Amino acid sequence: DKGGHKHFMAKEIAEQPSVIGDALRHYLSDDGRDVVLPGADLDFTQFDRMIMVACGTAYYACLTAKYWFEQLAGMPVEVDIASEFRYREPPIPARTGALFVSQSGETADTLAAMRYCEGRADKVLSVVNVPESSIARESDIALPILAGTEIGVASTKAFTCQLTVLLLLALKAAHDRGTRSPEELADTLSNLRGLPATINHALELDPAFKTAARQLAEADNALFLGRGLMYPLALEGALKLKEISYIHAEAYASGELKHGPIALIDKTMPVVVMAPCDALFDKTVSNMQEVMARGGKVMLITDRAGAEAANDGVWTQITLPDVDPILSPILYALPAQLLAYHTAVAKGTDADQPRNLAKSVTVE
Ligand code: F6R
Repeated sequence: DKGGHKHFMAKEIAEQPSVIGDALRHYLSDDGRDVVLPGADLDFTQFDRMIMVACGTAYYACLTAKYWFEQLAGMPVEVDIASEFRYREPPIPARTGALFVSQSGETADTLAAMRYCEGRADKVLSVVNVPESSIARESDIALPILAGTEIGVASTKAFTCQLTVLLLLALKAAHDRGTRSPEELADTLSNLRGLPATINHALELDPAFKTAARQLAEADNALFLGRGLMYPLALEGALKLKEISYIHAEAYASGELKHGPIALIDKTMPVVVMAPCDALFDKTVSNMQEVMARGGKVMLITDRAGAEAANDGVWTQITLPDVDPILSPILYALPAQLLAYHTAVAKGTDADQPRNLAKSVTVE
């Protein structure tokens, strides 16, 4: 049942405020001031570092979590693609927590990487959508993301629920390790409780994404740029676009632009820049100007302050609601999803069942 939507993907994008709300209710204390992990005995002082392993979109969730764990909890995090990790025989030092992220819980490479860590890592954690899956059953601690069944092949609500749970874990790590004061943590958690409402406001921008996507649909190639927490989101935006609209899209950390990809820029190349007005905004603006100076077409996804500071000369701009910078990856998943979705619709490709792809990759 598509609930009145044209595709499951659209329905699942629209469900995000409610499923993120479900995840928050599951993992927050009644007063909303603490992270609780029902049924799980986990204290991040038992680890000196984390490794996080997954495939595809779930890998980008891990990449985002690296920024969160390092910034909030001062914990070194190594992130790896499961198909690389499993054959490399990576050494696992003592006091390492290993965390695996998978919507289906059945991805062959992620499962094999997890089995490699059993008996090597101090603890094997999983962040999964399907609680009865192999990855959930075989891990020491399985943390459900509570996204509900995801039917669209391109992951949407599972991604934002993965991010939500990973951010809660990073906040718990910050609490356990004493790197953030109880007041700071309560503040972030309170902003997090307001996030479903903010996402609802962002969903109202759907017509703007539809218009922008009609322009994107004309392109054969696109580039996505982001810095800091927006870098993994740029990767996710490029993956979503190529996956369902078949437009060739690549993502780079904005600072990498002049180390190669700038050679691709001309007037046929849309460059989607994901950049809320955060501490790194000025640097991203200069990257954007480099693109525009070479005739590149910039599609800027930003917030109100960013739009005021930097809309000169941009091709298209979409202004998202303001959000606590630490939560921005969850909100900026929406433009990644909506741009890809409406581009696929404009091109007439099948957003729910893209060619050559399966929902659950149980063979390597
Ligand atoms: C992209 C997408 C895939 C999956 C990947 C991992 O939209 O859905 O990249 O994220 O195949 O799948 P899970 O999370 O089931 O392990």
